[in-house]
Amino acid sequence: MAKSRTQFICQNCGTVHARWAGKCDACGEWNTLIEEGTSSGIGAGPSSLRSARKGRPVALTTLSGEIEEAPRIVSGISELDRATGGGFVRGSALLIGGDPGIGKSTLLTQAAAALALRGHRVVYVSGEEAVAQIRLRAQRLGADKTPVELAAETNVEDILATVAEGKRPDLLILDSIQTLWTDMADSAPGTVTQVRAASQAMIRYAKSTGAAVVLVGHVTKEGQIAGPRVVEHMVDGVLYFEGEGGHHYRILRTVKNRFGPTDEIGVFEMSDRGLREVANPSELFLGERSAAAPGAAVFAGMEGTRPVLVEIQALVAPSPLGTPRRAVVGWDSSRLSMVLAVLEAHCGVRFSQHDVYLNVAGGYRITEPAADLAVAAALVSSLTGLALPADCVYFGEISLSGAIRPVAHAQQRLKEAEKLGFARAVMPPSNGDEPGGGARGNFQPSTLSELVARIAGARARDADG
Ligand code: TYD
Ligand code: MG
Repeated sequence: MAKSRTQFICQNCGTVHARWAGKCDACGEWNTLIEEGTSSGIGAGPSSLRSARKGRPVALTTLSGEIEEAPRIVSGISELDRATGGGFVRGSALLIGGDPGIGKSTLLTQAAAALALRGHRVVYVSGEEAVAQIRLRAQRLGADKTPVELAAETNVEDILATVAEGKRPDLLILDSIQTLWTDMADSAPGTVTQVRAASQAMIRYAKSTGAAVVLVGHVTKEGQIAGPRVVEHMVDGVLYFEGEGGHHYRILRTVKNRFGPTDEIGVFEMSDRGLREVANPSELFLGERSAAAPGAAVFAGMEGTRPVLVEIQALVAPSPLGTPRRAVVGWDSSRLSMVLAVLEAHCGVRFSQHDVYLNVAGGYRITEPAADLAVAAALVSSLTGLALPADCVYFGEISLSGAIRPVAHAQQRLKEAEKLGFARAVMPPSNGDEPGGGARGNFQPSTLSELVARIAGARARDADG
């Protein structure tokens, strides 16, 4: 039996330290080291308990072979199925992270109800709420008449014993991993050791029985799953449920998926009767658009396989400060600096005396470089005070030389734009080689200065005619 001695474990990254310190050497976080016992902690795997056991050979097998049942359980909530890559995968563990109150329990209650109605055995274990509270929510969602099996429990061994009874569940939901604790570790619930040990036990259960396990995890203010990021490495998939305060739509974003694409999103709207699917997110993000204002450009973006139109708003105002402000919401601020630098260096547009504010409407977050062109158009439009044409979308990547580079999925972007009544597009030149790309009133500048000249030229054209 290993001697029990204390050690200090970083609650952020899980690194084990022999001595306490204010800062974790491994991840650089302050104040995250907590004293935990080691007799059954992270440092001590099963091997240190049973001293030097002789290995037992396991049967090796082939890649091809029989798979007994349909590998996926489809919920019928298509935005959820899209984010999971076509449904929950049997024998896999999925982590759903999100801020408290964002709607994780609501989403999973609805998913549980939908799956139970389709004849699957679904067990919902809540460690946060009492049975009465969960029932109240289910009533509100109209899910109270469905055969979901419910328990309020936090001990891993008890949960495993419960689900071992009767038919193996198709889906086991654990809300949340931060409340679970196992007898195998003697730290407090919520510590890295407990969360890791409990998650490991649940993942082992999923792999050995073929049940799909969903773990709910809370996220810290910095956007990390609270406590151990280690859990993210252990599970097969990680979904983030996010939304902006004040907006009632929610985005389910795939961050990791061993069985599907990682760039998918599902869009929902929180109503008084739970989450509603939003089949056409573009309409939502373009919702309250006033077309005639300068500084707004519509970006034709892609989220995974799906085109999404969003409005990018820029405000360029004379600055009273020596160092003008640059503020960005919903986009990468270094990317903004790059676009500003290219505009200054290659197009003769000066921003050095101006504050620049950039906002992606509706609290949406863009990660694609294809948004460069829309951002540049919005910036120039705001600086010159000239509104951009209301029926035009923008996409394309800007290189440091000021050239406009082609981006993927031009056809899908154009199609979505057309569907929503945008007749024209400003897009990279070589995307025009694709059928339909060069058609209509599309403008395909090969450099950014051509676009700037066209926007500035609108004033001259207005004056002429
Ligand atoms: P919840 O699912 O409990 O969040 P989480 O599990 O992520 O902490 O959702 C809580 C919020 O959602 C709460 O502020 C109330 C709101 N809500 C609605 O607006 N409509 C509903 O039908 C439900 C069930 C919740
Ligand atoms: Mg909850």
